[in-house]
Amino acid sequence: MTDQVKDAPEKVGARAPADSFQDLLKIETVEVPAALLESTETYLGSEDISVDRYTSREFFDLEVEKVWRKTWQVACRENRLKNPGDYYVYDIVNDSIVLTRTQSGELKGFYNSCLHRGRALKRGAGNCDTLRCPYHGWQWELDGEFKSAPCKWDFPHVDKQNARLPEVRVDTWGGWVFINMDERAPSLKEYMGVLPSHMDQWKHEQRYVSLHIEKVIACNWKVAFEAFIESYHAIATHPQLMPFQGIDNSQYDVWGDHVSRTISAYGVANPSHADLYTEQQTLDAMMALIGVENGPKLAPGQTAREMYAALNLPVANEQAGEDFAGRATMSELMDSTLYSLFPNFAPWAGHGTVITYRHRPNGDDVDSCIMEIFLLTRYPEGSESPPDAATFRLGIDQPFSEAAEVMGAGFANVFNQDGANLPQVQKGLKASKKGAVTLGNYQEVRIRHFHQTLDKYIYAR
Ligand code: FES
Ligand SMILES: [Fe+2]
Repeated sequence: MTDQVKDAPEKVGARAPADSFQDLLKIETVEVPAALLESTETYLGSEDISVDRYTSREFFDLEVEKVWRKTWQVACRENRLKNPGDYYVYDIVNDSIVLTRTQSGELKGFYNSCLHRGRALKRGAGNCDTLRCPYHGWQWELDGEFKSAPCKWDFPHVDKQNARLPEVRVDTWGGWVFINMDERAPSLKEYMGVLPSHMDQWKHEQRYVSLHIEKVIACNWKVAFEAFIESYHAIATHPQLMPFQGIDNSQYDVWGDHVSRTISAYGVANPSHADLYTEQQTLDAMMALIGVENGPKLAPGQTAREMYAALNLPVANEQAGEDFAGRATMSELMDSTLYSLFPNFAPWAGHGTVITYRHRPNGDDVDSCIMEIFLLTRYPEGSESPPDAATFRLGIDQPFSEAAEVMGAGFANVFNQDGANLPQVQKGLKASKKGAVTLGNYQEVRIRHFHQTLDKYIYAR
């Protein structure tokens, strides 16, 4: 990406006139991880972005061919494929991949299409001895080797050599199973750039899914993805966060083609609202978000950030079965540190329970997508993973508040606010006279970075 870094006009790339996130790291009392000390401040240009990228069938079809069939993408948690015989079907637009765990413990991925007359071999998830097509009963071993067909005498032209199931590449990181349909793509490790070296310390593989929400949203998949890689919208969309989230001094970073990050500090009032709130009011507003009324009172001189870290520490310790005292920064115990991996995977960082998002097209619909929210909670090393939570599904007309029982009213409200914007963004994009969107140079650099990488794939030969 360095070839696209441009000379920044004066002040472009500078943050809001307030303390930066890096300044908050200076008051940490323990060693700060190198990953958090990085700040790329990349300027990638100021050009507008055309709206047809979000609305046209032609562009959507190009994404299928050039992005979904070429990139590493998350299929599922590895937990879904724990035991020999476990299978899981991952659908992306009209492509479908069936993943299996073989008897020898290997992970495999196959195009989910019978080599006889094409029926999808599997749907959903489950456990099986062989991949057996329900239509006429052809069977394959879990490693893709052809096993048998009823009335085999009628198919002398079909044998183990020519009837292996075509494979896709499969790899894992952080407890996630990734697939890639492109045989020539770089390895997952190379594709992920700095992400593993930054994130491995927060042990995503040592977590189970404590909440999984899947919601259909009436907007292009990129409209939804982009709404969660910038914090700029929070000022207008989530005013209730201003007492306790440092939105204006969020830090935005990009690395290589595939990785970017936002860090928004918790436990501090938004810089442009700071005069409005005392430290106690900051703490009270934060506690209210998680449903706690009459929460703890600050000691003289104690900050809301310090208190919130102190409250989160025992929870993180208990979950992980480790003692983070003296080695976890306040940042790692509370801040919103959101990484993303092109095209659609967004894991958060930290020691406590972290969010991960994934956004995909809803079937082959240009104008709707599936947004997923995973909460990933640590469990102690050496102990068995608790079972993953069942998926809570919300349809296109069901607001996140219908999941308030499982996600908490405060968070459901935040997502409702986002959810209210997104269909209106899609509507407005289609109605645009201007025909383009305009991005902030710093706060929306991740969106520009995403589109520049998208261009590299779309226009690659
Ligand atoms: S289509 Fe699968 S066995 Fe006939
Ligand atoms: Fe939001």
